[in-house]
Formats: sequence, structure tokens, C-alpha cells
Amino acid sequence: AAGDAAKGEKVFKKCAACHSIEEGKNKVGPSLHGVIGRECGTISDYKYSKGYQDACEKGFTIDEAFLDEYLKDPSAKISSIAQTKERSKMTFKLKKEDDIQDVTEYLKQN
Ligand code: HEM
Repeated sequence: AAGDAAKGEKVFKKCAACHSIEEGKNKVGPSLHGVIGRECGTISDYKYSKGYQDACEKGFTIDEAFLDEYLKDPSAKISSIAQTKERSKMTFKLKKEDDIQDVTEYLKQN
């Protein structure tokens, strides 16, 4: 089921500690402007972790299916793609399926 972007904007407050939705603005994490549909790890002035870069070398696009698993457990998703024990620098986990759907819908529109 599709998420609710208005609810997702509220969920994004948890992400905003580390991410801006503004284009070109990186914080502890990379800007999430237009992240859905973006090629993995392509913010050129952001330094991704080794694990994240290893995963991105496999070549994939950030889509809903990736986000669903990444948000639940970033390091588990990254090490499973990269086939290494490397972790993601993102330590935050979003567990609730509704929150994931809603924030994904918000990200799609921004
Ligand atoms: C990376 C989403 C919360 C820190 C990412 C990426 C996405 C994402 C999609 C990959 C971006 C890319 O490929 O350019 C989210 C969402 C959040 C959230 C939707 C809230 C639900 C947080 C929080 C923190 C954080 C709270 C800090 C405590 C990071 C860091 C990276 C990252 C450091 C880079 C990962 C690496 O290099 O391993 N996030 N994030 N995120 N995020 Fe988050």
C-alpha cells in the first residue's frame, strides 16, 4: 500500500537530525533531495563509508524496495549487498512499516 506523504513529512523529522531535504545540503548524512531514483552513493561532495561505497560499486538505484530494507537495518542491508562485514555509517533504524511507507512517499515527492 502507498504511504501518506503528509505523515511522512512528520516522520522525516527523525531523519532531519542527519539529513536535509534541500538539494546540495549535506549534514552528517547526504542530502536526501530526489533520493528515490538516484543512483546509489552519487552525492559527489559527500564522503560515504567504505561499506556503503562497496555496496554502491555493485551498481543500483535507490528505490522503494532498497529503502524498505535499508531503513530497517542499514548495516545489514549494506553488508548483504557488498558481501562484506562492512557497515553503513547510518546507525539509525526505522522499524515501523507504516513510517517507512510514509517517509518513502514524502521522499518521492521531494
Ligand atoms: C545515508 C535515509 C535517518 C545518517 C542514507 C541514505 C538514505 C538515508 C536513503 C543513502 C543516501 C545516498 O545514497 O546518497 C534516511 C531516512 C532516515 C534517515 C529516510 C529517517 C527515517 C538518519 C539518521 C542519521 C542518518 C537519524 C544519523 C543518526 C546517515 C549517514 C548516511 C546515511 C551517516 C551515509 C551512510 C554511509 O555512508 O554508510 N540515509 N536516513 N540517517 N544516513 Fe540516513
